[in-house]
Amino acid sequence: MLAFLVPVFILSMGMVHAHATESPTCTPLVPAEMDNATVDRLLGHWVYIMGASQYPPHVAEMKELKHATFTFFPGSHEDELNATEIMRLNETCVVRNTSKIHIFRHNSTLAHVEGQEVSMAELIHSDKDLFILKHFKDNHVGLSLSARTPEVTKEQLEEFEAQLRCHGFKLEEAFITSPKDACPAAGEEKGEGSTATAESQLG
Ligand SMILES: *[C@@H]1O[C@H](CO)[C@@H](O)[C@H](O)[C@H]1NC(C)=O
Ligand SMILES: *[C@@H]1O[C@H](CO)[C@@H](O)[C@H](O)[C@H]1NC(C)=O
Ligand SMILES: *[C@@H]1O[C@H](CO)[C@@H](O)[C@H](O)[C@H]1NC(C)=O
Ligand SMILES: *[C@@H]1O[C@H](CO)[C@@H](O)[C@H](O)[C@H]1NC(C)=O
Ligand SMILES: *[C@@H]1O[C@H](CO)[C@@H](O)[C@H](O)[C@H]1NC(C)=O
Repeated sequence: MLAFLVPVFILSMGMVHAHATESPTCTPLVPAEMDNATVDRLLGHWVYIMGASQYPPHVAEMKELKHATFTFFPGSHEDELNATEIMRLNETCVVRNTSKIHIFRHNSTLAHVEGQEVSMAELIHSDKDLFILKHFKDNHVGLSLSARTPEVTKEQLEEFEAQLRCHGFKLEEAFITSPKDACPAAGEEKGEGSTATAESQLG
């Protein structure tokens, strides 16, 4: 499973009708320029916020994925990152620390490698505190939004939702995570369940 690719949770209805009557302004997504600064910017902790995919196996994975965070570390060379992923699949928290990200600078592509499974996504130019990917699988496209924190601004959310619509997704086809499904922090697995903090809703 590709946590950073495609996770999560049936969309709250609030978001669905919010912009239904607006025609989206389809600003083309711009691939990030993959220099050292961009690669450095990827390091550290991210929270998966929402995503959508046309690829049925990814849609199935997203349905199970209730929450995901991931951390990128420097890998064995400058175009490789190690990744640790913590995700809640259905009810169960799972930790993966064997994934790698291969960076193809010439085409702004990140390849997520976990065991035999490889998935490709283009890194999209965005605000510094966002991590936006355009996923490719055969002829299927997906989009995902992750951020440094469990919350994004209204403007960031609306911009991403507009991109979903521009890529032919209905908002109700998007999967969104909820902070209440966060897994306990490392070392707290035997604690009292969810460590939900912020109660605020994305929608
Ligand atoms: C990018 O970083 C690598 C080491 O991580 C270094 O060898 C290389 O010179 C850097 N490139 C630029 C353009 O600074
Ligand atoms: C990255 O993972 C490799 C094993 O795949 C390991 O040898 C290396 O120490 C890891 N690097 C870091 C910084 O954890
Ligand atoms: C999650 O639940 C669904 C439906 O009950 C089930 O088909 C699937 O195998 C479960 N996935 C995991 C990883 O437990
Ligand atoms: C992954 O986690 C296991 C269990 O905590 C640990 O033994 C192993 O060294 C970790 N591997 C990496 C690459 O961090
Ligand atoms: C980017 O380049 C890599 C390596 O050349 C290739 O495998 C991958 O398919 C390319 N990605 C896209 C989106 O074209």
